[in-house]
Amino acid sequence: MSKSVDFLVVGSGIAGLSFALKAANHGKVLIVTKSNEDESNTKYAQGGVAVVVDKKEDSFEKHINDTLIAGDGLCDKEVVEIVVKEGPDRINEIIDYGTSFDKTNEGLYDLAKEGGHSEFRVLHYKDITGFEIERALLEQIHQNPNIEILTHYFAVDLITQHHLGVFVDKSSTDITCYGIYALNTHTGNVEKILSKVTVMASGGAGHIYSVTTNPTIATGDGVAMVYRAKGKVRNMEFIQFHPTALYNPGDYPSFLISEAVRGFGGVLKRTNGEEFMYEYDERGSLAPRDIVARAIDAEIKKSGEDYVYLDIRHRSKKDILKHFPNIYAKCLDIGIDLTKDMIPVAPACHYMCGGVMVDHDGRSSIRQLYACGECSSTGLHGANRLASNSLLEALVFAHRIYKNAISRFDGIVVPDNIPDWDEHGVKLSNEDILVTHNVREMQKIMSDYVGIVRSDFRLERAMRRLGLLYEETESFYKQTKLSVKLCELRNLIQVSYIVVKSAMMRKESRGLHYTTDYPEHQAILEDTVF
Ligand code: SIN
Repeated sequence: MSKSVDFLVVGSGIAGLSFALKAANHGKVLIVTKSNEDESNTKYAQGGVAVVVDKKEDSFEKHINDTLIAGDGLCDKEVVEIVVKEGPDRINEIIDYGTSFDKTNEGLYDLAKEGGHSEFRVLHYKDITGFEIERALLEQIHQNPNIEILTHYFAVDLITQHHLGVFVDKSSTDITCYGIYALNTHTGNVEKILSKVTVMASGGAGHIYSVTTNPTIATGDGVAMVYRAKGKVRNMEFIQFHPTALYNPGDYPSFLISEAVRGFGGVLKRTNGEEFMYEYDERGSLAPRDIVARAIDAEIKKSGEDYVYLDIRHRSKKDILKHFPNIYAKCLDIGIDLTKDMIPVAPACHYMCGGVMVDHDGRSSIRQLYACGECSSTGLHGANRLASNSLLEALVFAHRIYKNAISRFDGIVVPDNIPDWDEHGVKLSNEDILVTHNVREMQKIMSDYVGIVRSDFRLERAMRRLGLLYEETESFYKQTKLSVKLCELRNLIQVSYIVVKSAMMRKESRGLHYTTDYPEHQAILEDTVF
């Protein structure tokens, strides 16, 4: 089976859905998503959306400045200004679509604060903001006759000239995307989906590590696909570890304890009850994430315990229940009462700050291919993302992509001689367990050697071990009928390779990349691009 559309979107989080809603006014939109339609990192975002709402206390300048400080010198200042200044209009649009944000008794938005923010500016809906946004966007999508969603379709590869037998290498400036090959998991067949414009909005890659807050779909598919198609990726060494995932061995993925809990007065403590964050940073428990995660990592290494505590017991039960009903319920479920007990927490992989390199209109280095949301690298986050800036970035860039794409798509012609997927000579696997073993091995390599504190020795060790897994997986991939698990393993290994290679290239410590071999900043500011 093959399909042909005007706009193809890979992924059904905030980036893909908000683009689709706008593009649908101009042509047919197809959204392809590998799981259920609402399964995305967006759905699990707790904290909220950082945006300047209260112009009395807050200002664009303050939000811009906080973002630049968190990004540790590597943000694209122009992009930061674009996102912060265009943010309020985009937020109004999702409010118009039906998204609710919490208000105070006086009817003003109830703004929260998170690490690295100098003001209260995080719009939220209880502690399930992402769930609420996803709900409202999907409700709009369902009413739109120009949008079709294919669920449980796994995007395998981008279609480019390569599939027409034309050689393209990384330095080519005319690589063009004509759509994707996607695995229909209902039939097991790979289908050809052609499009004038493709938007990669496939989310992050948390599952390159053993411990992550990301849902299981976060396997770096978009970055791996673009990399294989010889598109450019940038700054992949900057993997953000959220400082406070709930420590509950057996939970996979880890449950997030939102940074908003610290914004609400939560204090990090050693297991003996001592506060420690002021020993690391004058902002205490509300320092930016890279600093807090490194401090917790150091504390855990010193104490030999697996966690530290987050203490919110001094806030009233009424307040805790009002702001964090979901976190309260989850903790209570495992015997932790937030009003009486401290919460055991440890860092977990949370966000990929690098990704597919795009310009100010979301255009990748491959023609007719845009990237949006976590899989993209716009320049907003630099070396460390400021908390709650990512949903805003997705909304702003989805709009910019939409504007750019509708001005171009009419004249685009997709070649009619693109071949069907060739699975000649492949066999059904009868040992899928080997794929599972390789995923676990890869996650252990990344967690052991490419975590919060790195060194040349550790990175080289990781690279050697990944090399073996890469070879095994590629050989298995060539001989075996495709499955989602196998494709995900391939993507995870490729993304891990890019992370390690990027980390090896950065001979300094900056933002989320900390290496004991080069503990200082280097004088020259450079992106890692390849
Ligand atoms: C959180 O609620 O702490 C997550 C917010 C974010 O990652 O931006």
